[in-house]
Amino acid sequence: MSDTGWSEYWEKDGAAGGEVFVSGQGGRHPALAEYWKAVFAGLSKGARILDVASGAGSIYAHLDAEHGFDLHATDIAAEALDALSERIAGVTTTVAGADELPFEDRSFDLVVSQFGIEYAGSEAFAEAGRLVNTGGQIVALVHIEDGYVDSNNKAQLAEAEMLQKIEFVEHAIDLTNRAFSGNKALTDHTEQAFVPLIRQVSEAIQRCPQGIHAYLLAGFKKLYEGRRQYRKSDVVGWLEEMNKELSKTLDRLSRMRAAAMSSDDMAAIVASLEAHGLSYVLAEPFATEGHEKPIAWSLTGKRLN
Ligand SMILES: C[S@@+](CC[C@H](N)C(=O)[O-])C[C@H]1O[C@@H](n2cnc3c(N)ncnc32)[C@H](O)[C@@H]1O
Repeated sequence: MSDTGWSEYWEKDGAAGGEVFVSGQGGRHPALAEYWKAVFAGLSKGARILDVASGAGSIYAHLDAEHGFDLHATDIAAEALDALSERIAGVTTTVAGADELPFEDRSFDLVVSQFGIEYAGSEAFAEAGRLVNTGGQIVALVHIEDGYVDSNNKAQLAEAEMLQKIEFVEHAIDLTNRAFSGNKALTDHTEQAFVPLIRQVSEAIQRCPQGIHAYLLAGFKKLYEGRRQYRKSDVVGWLEEMNKELSKTLDRLSRMRAAAMSSDDMAAIVASLEAHGLSYVLAEPFATEGHEKPIAWSLTGKRLN
């Protein structure tokens, strides 16, 4: 991912972007804070820690100011690491893909990741495991296929694909142009033709209440119905922006879905960490109060010798 792409994907958490639990400034769910605090509680002062695919530092944001650890972070996007450094002082940052981490074998007491390593594919976990020192551990929260987040993403992706297929935005621009032309007969005719599209998006909102489809319909209705207060360029400009947002949303949701790991994927990851000398490697669904489905896999493993 390019530097400039990072904030478009992860920083934003408005209606069209962002992740359920984690955005670039994320890590807000209390269960995540509890999870990471328990991990850090077992460490000695001076422990050397690496956060892989750190984003803007959601994991380290759970540390007290007096932590006394030697903190390192990597991400493929320099922009993410800049945001991390602005937010948390004293972290050594290195731009790197999670599949090729520029550190010596066994150079960290703890290697962590939250919805990060998996973006580089299953093979990247062995690379993170390579860095775990004797007596150290790897701890990661990993996107889980068909879990709470992935199920939401699947539903939202289907509706975003539907928006693109019915060319909702293009038809909305056409309707706007006609409405501002002052030709009433033509506007009435185009409005009639637009009704089935509105119906399709309304049905999508019944199936899946949140997502770009819901945001787009509500926003367009408001602008179109109140168009006398606006210029044509305001309404068309907003729709053109929404079309760009739609492309980004499709890309982001597809990437997140591709990164979500199944039970078989996790079994292979566990086996590869064991093959790289880690013991007690466990991948368990991470459930939280209030969500029927797990929000992640919790992956843990230790290097005994
Ligand atoms: C969902 S965000 C999670 C960020 C952070 N760990 C958190 O919990 O907020 C995914 C992060 O992975 C990074 N990323 C994506 N592909 C990567 C790769 N191949 N190698 C390293 N980082 C990657 C992105 O730049 C982004 O910061």
